[in-house]
Amino acid sequence: MTDTTVAIREARATDAAGMARVHVQSWRSTYPGLIPAQFLINLSEPPAAQRWAAIAEMRGPGQGAFVAVDVGGLIAAPDTIVGIASFGTRRVAVQGHAGEFHALYLLDDAKGYGIGRRLMAAMADRFLTAGIRSAAVWCLRDNPSRWFYERLGGIKVAERPIRFANTDLVEIAYGWRDLTPLARLSAGPEVR
Ligand SMILES: CC(C)(COP(=O)(O)OP(=O)(O)OC[C@H]1O[C@@H](n2cnc3c(N)ncnc32)[C@H](O)[C@@H]1OP(=O)(O)O)[C@@H](O)C(=O)NCCC(=O)NCCS
Repeated sequence: MTDTTVAIREARATDAAGMARVHVQSWRSTYPGLIPAQFLINLSEPPAAQRWAAIAEMRGPGQGAFVAVDVGGLIAAPDTIVGIASFGTRRVAVQGHAGEFHALYLLDDAKGYGIGRRLMAAMADRFLTAGIRSAAVWCLRDNPSRWFYERLGGIKVAERPIRFANTDLVEIAYGWRDLTPLARLSAGPEVR
């Protein structure tokens, strides 16, 4: 199967429930063994939806959110949101990188079809349009998805200890000093 039935478009506040579903399912699939189970059990879609509604409304030059929608219904029911991504200015500064990829999460069934790459390309394209030429992403060092960022040309540029959910963790940052090749990975998002 190809990913041709999946559309990438800007998120809207009305997408919030679908975005929260992806967020919670992806955290519960990605972080067992990394983040305490009780934290993952306690995740709840309604408060996550409130946060995603606010993020979707904070659209502006160099910040916003995208959703991947399974228009054709080959991965999930037709028009299901199967992937989410958000980006903006730096929450934690990484020297030489102006933008930050804040979040990127897919449903398990949506992995492996190039949707993550298209979402990264869509965000990179928006950064470049806003005159932001470089960006970084923070990722847990023990998250196997970190290799996805390396595959897309990210270079490890920083590492830091963090305390999250009463647990000591290590995050690493991958950076793209020039977002142009990343933005070119996809022909561009289908924006509706
Ligand atoms: C990371 C994630 C977004 C990747 O999305 P995806 O749609 O499955 O990835 P793509 O199909 O676009 O893959 C693009 C390339 O990266 C490679 N890749 C993807 N995930 C990989 C991984 N975990 N390890 C190594 N390579 C990986 C693919 O093989 C592909 O390579 P190719 O160009 O040779 O074909 C997805 O796996 C995910 O949601 N992970 C869980 C959430 C998460 O950890 N997010 C990051 C938080 S910092």
